[in-house]
Amino acid sequence: MNIEAGIEKTETGKITTDQSAHVPTIKGNFEAQENEYEYWVTDIEGKVPGDLTGSFFRNGPGRLKLGGEEFGHWFDGDGMIARTTFTDGKVHFANKFIRTPKYVDETAAGKPLYRGFGGAPKGNFFKRFAPPANPANTGLVLHGGKFLALNEGGRPFSVDPATLDTYGEFTYDDSLTKTNVFSAHGKINPKTGYYYNFGLCFDIGLKGIKPGFELYKIDPKGQMVDRARFTLDHMPLLHDFALTENYAIFIQSSVSMQGNILMTMLKNESFADLMLYDNSLTNKIVIIDIHNMKLVERIEIDPIACLHFGNAYEKNGEIHFDLMQTKESGFGTPDHKMEPLDLFSDDVKFRSGAARYKRCVLNLKTRQFQSEFIDDALEGEFPQWDWTRTTSENRYAVSTGYAGDGQTYFNAIQKIDRKTGKVEVHEFGSYRFNGEPLMVAKPDSDAEDDFYCVCYVYNGNTDKSEVVVIDSKNFSEPLATVKLDFHIPQGFHGMYSQKVFV
Ligand SMILES: [Fe+2]
Repeated sequence: MNIEAGIEKTETGKITTDQSAHVPTIKGNFEAQENEYEYWVTDIEGKVPGDLTGSFFRNGPGRLKLGGEEFGHWFDGDGMIARTTFTDGKVHFANKFIRTPKYVDETAAGKPLYRGFGGAPKGNFFKRFAPPANPANTGLVLHGGKFLALNEGGRPFSVDPATLDTYGEFTYDDSLTKTNVFSAHGKINPKTGYYYNFGLCFDIGLKGIKPGFELYKIDPKGQMVDRARFTLDHMPLLHDFALTENYAIFIQSSVSMQGNILMTMLKNESFADLMLYDNSLTNKIVIIDIHNMKLVERIEIDPIACLHFGNAYEKNGEIHFDLMQTKESGFGTPDHKMEPLDLFSDDVKFRSGAARYKRCVLNLKTRQFQSEFIDDALEGEFPQWDWTRTTSENRYAVSTGYAGDGQTYFNAIQKIDRKTGKVEVHEFGSYRFNGEPLMVAKPDSDAEDDFYCVCYVYNGNTDKSEVVVIDSKNFSEPLATVKLDFHIPQGFHGMYSQKVFV
């Protein structure tokens, strides 16, 4: 027993908790996994290819309830890293919570203590007025010798990629102060080794509070070597950006934090209620030169909602970038609040936030902006590409998808040919729900359509999770299904390292 955290560990990976979900289930995908495991997985259907080498990390809320009390929002679940390592056809799995102050203190207390994105624990009036605690639950990056767990509401946490132990909050040698935040969607240019990330900020002046964001540049050794602040016309949901060889591209979208923050805190409501789609707001593409860190252009566009970007690159003097355009119904409006997200209902209605894959082209000289959906793509989210091609033209992308009518959570991944618009779909089948797929380039192939796709899948028929490996050349069939002895709750974002961490 880990006394500090109160978490029971097993070496064998055998279940020690009460897996009481009634199967088949979808809501089991959002139930806590309090145990931390580390073992060689032997229950594998199919064959893990011998040339698939490395560690597939994913971050996500490992628990959404504590002491019987639900956290206020999905985004408040404590970050837990799941790691699946492939080496010589064998598979090793480990998972561990990130020891944030929130996790450590709340584990010791046996109940939620801190305010989150979704409100403060009931009964503690004064906690309402604190900023949301950082659960470090959204993404991961391995750069400059540091492995960081990320959440856009705070600073990163440094973690050992081998042991998954938490070192503590990471500040880039005090460059990130207590008021700085650092997003979960930084990008590394593989040609230069530079890592770019951003965080929202506020400038307080005579005319009041001016929202904006700060762009950070980190060199290949992990030193923050430059940063710059940019103002925004309103406080958009700025969750991700696109990176080319020369530019960082942000969208000031129609989804914006509106309303009275103080009243929201006073009523102990969720900040999610303030994120509203308002098509009267000005939408702009904001382009920044990443070499001199200066603003290049702000180009007004039609109203749009988007959370995630795909890859981006420059070609023939134009900037190409992909994004997932979220349906307006994925957000509330100034006249209509969105239904609260209830992850513990029997059917976990999540599809309102579905998005469609879109290609965008921007000509900086003419300021012309064009975009088109990939018509045959499924609704979905979490666009991904081969990260070795970040800032270079990529033909293929993948994302999650909803296959079939009436699906309320991702049950498929799709492979998108950006050149022809052809879409191939891998359906996981009845009561199997997946997270973000990652593309892993095959080591001995330069061909673009020759990669593995790896993905965590929750099997609601067994209430256990699986790691599925798919070959791009036979996308509809799994190569291997690695079956874990327990479930890992639905996560957000991950990364793949060619290094083997065990
Ligand atoms: Fe994200």
